[in-house]
Amino acid sequence: MFKNLKQKWKVNGLQLALIICTFAIGGSLTGFTAKKIMNGLAIEHDWLWTIIYILLITIIWPLAVIVISVFFGQFHFFSGYVRRLGGKVGLVRSRKSVVDGPLTTNDSPLTHIAIFASGAGSNAQNIVDHFKNSASIKIDLVICNKPDAGVLEIARKENIPSIIIEKERFFSGDGYINELREKAIDLVVLAGFLWKIPDILVNAYRKRIINIHPALLPKYGGKGMYGSKVHEAVLSANEKESGITIHYVDEHYDNGDIILQVKCPVLEGDTPEILAYRIHALEHANYPVVIEELASKLKDFTT
Ligand code: GRF
Repeated sequence: MFKNLKQKWKVNGLQLALIICTFAIGGSLTGFTAKKIMNGLAIEHDWLWTIIYILLITIIWPLAVIVISVFFGQFHFFSGYVRRLGGKVGLVRSRKSVVDGPLTTNDSPLTHIAIFASGAGSNAQNIVDHFKNSASIKIDLVICNKPDAGVLEIARKENIPSIIIEKERFFSGDGYINELREKAIDLVVLAGFLWKIPDILVNAYRKRIINIHPALLPKYGGKGMYGSKVHEAVLSANEKESGITIHYVDEHYDNGDIILQVKCPVLEGDTPEILAYRIHALEHANYPVVIEELASKLKDFTT
């Protein structure tokens, strides 16, 4: 039973123990508080008493477990749990998923991720940090096309296996699919990867490769539109806003279905560097969230 719960909720043994404690203490606190309130109301023990008691329990229980969850470090779990429960009984409108996906995958309860990057790798580092202690997501591989890219140093430091890929084999061979399959990779995350993804890889991982672009696609995308070139183009066009686009990867540059766009203002006096800084902050805040949502669709044990 505990094993099933760990899989269903995607938690480790310690977290499961903390969750059970939260349920137990939250439940007792609910009963205690409801009784106190009922005593204060001094209503006879009849059908009205029962109805009010049930109503009180229904209102107090979510609040009690949320409060207790903070002490056990399980707020994130319980806020989601209560929201889902509320959604099921029609009390809460469940948050719309930003991810619209298929998805089939291997039997492992973990989502295995490969990050493809060509540059400094601030997004890669942010993703690795975000999922470092995750019980459901593991970064298993870094794939890079530049031997001197900063992301390789990140992979080394974080003990993540990395591969420097060769152009010929990537574009005219197997697209390194075997290496991805060997590691049971479910999801490919492009984080500043400058080569186009070959059709063979797009087909093998259809709707399981995502990219982040530092502008509001379809504007300022396509071949050659990367790094500061994007921000320079946005500034020269006197745009009042820019932002980020997270999208599925298809056979064309910056073209697949959009998963999420987040906007930010372009301000008077912005330089490409200042705009890049603002956009990077948006990327770091949003990319892991989208990855998490996609991963939970890939391995949906939660409902
Ligand atoms: C990001 O701005 C991303 O939008 C683009 O490449 C850049 C990578 O930056 N695809 P970093 O290497 O993650 O810092």
